Amino acid sequence: MKTLLEKAQQTHQLTTEEIVQLLAHPRPQPLFDAADAVRQKNVGDGVYLRGLIEFSSYCKNDCFYCGLRRSNLQAQRYRLLPEQIIEMAHKAVAYGYKTLVLQSGEDLWFDTDKMCHIIQEIKKLDVAITLSIGEKTREEYAAYRQAGADRYLLRIETTNQALYEKLDPAMSWHNRVRCLQDLKELGYEVGSGSLVGLPGQTLQDLAADLLFFKEFPVDMAGIGPFIPHPQTPLAHEKADGHFDLSLKMMAIMRLLLPDINIPATTAMETLHPQGRMMALQCGANVVMPNVTEGDYRKKYELYPGKICTGDSAAQCRGCIQHKIESIGRFVSPSKGFHGDYLKGK
Ligand code: 5AD
Ligand code: FES
Repeated sequence: MKTLLEKAQQTHQLTTEEIVQLLAHPRPQPLFDAADAVRQKNVGDGVYLRGLIEFSSYCKNDCFYCGLRRSNLQAQRYRLLPEQIIEMAHKAVAYGYKTLVLQSGEDLWFDTDKMCHIIQEIKKLDVAITLSIGEKTREEYAAYRQAGADRYLLRIETTNQALYEKLDPAMSWHNRVRCLQDLKELGYEVGSGSLVGLPGQTLQDLAADLLFFKEFPVDMAGIGPFIPHPQTPLAHEKADGHFDLSLKMMAIMRLLLPDINIPATTAMETLHPQGRMMALQCGANVVMPNVTEGDYRKKYELYPGKICTGDSAAQCRGCIQHKIESIGRFVSPSKGFHGDYLKGK
């Protein structure tokens, strides 16, 4: 393991077999330490905060793993009005967020004009805007970009095409890759990522995910443990081991892509009370606190046991800063674009 990690720290290259070996290793602490060192050197001790607004729980898709799937008739649906979203953005900026993430299910009510209006209004607040609203046409992506969107999050979920399409037979893996390519060509910072622990997913599949992110290459990648949702076809699947495997995935990602942004995902904290801080010590450098106000947080239930559903935006802002400082890190005042740290920003 030692020689493998030394090689990875110097060259940022690993083969599929080497990644599988690291993922299967029973004592990953040296891997975590190596990732932490690479993180420190390439993105520093600052943590970028992204304020997350979950603005609609409607979704036209039917992914087997997701609580917002359209066939989940028990899901609580809501949709914020554009003016409500803009108002939430104002509040988030007042709390000091420099990046806002607008996330929703694939909700066709938000057509291109509505989205562009929201983006233009929020852009006036001098923040970076990240969209996370699913698969669209190239023209739609171009319009959002023109309106001021800077980044886009679209997880590939899994690079195993057969598995991807099994988990939503109406969706096309190639279209998802097309979306990622369009986004890159349009000048977005592209965030992708995968779910860890999907039924039937192998360590080889996970290694392929990491090599896909490196090859693309992505500017950001979010690794989330799959957490079975009771109102989905995957209700009875297991979540055992997904937390540890996700930490290893983040750590190896940091070795392969030393200066990208890696979020300590919220799902990690659902599986472990210190999950996000552990992730920050295994390669991650971003946290996405929820800034959605009121009752909506708990209705946006991708998976069960979501954290912070009873907290306000102000509480999460204070809580997360305290946690970050307790591990010797600090909240960065920068907008946190890919590579900013090495450029001295
Ligand atoms: N467990 C964990 N993460 C999930 N997501 C969707 N459903 C689940 C689940 N059951 C993730 C997907 C999606 C992101 C917004 O939420 O990876 O891209
Ligand atoms: Fe929401 Fe800690 S981040 S309460």
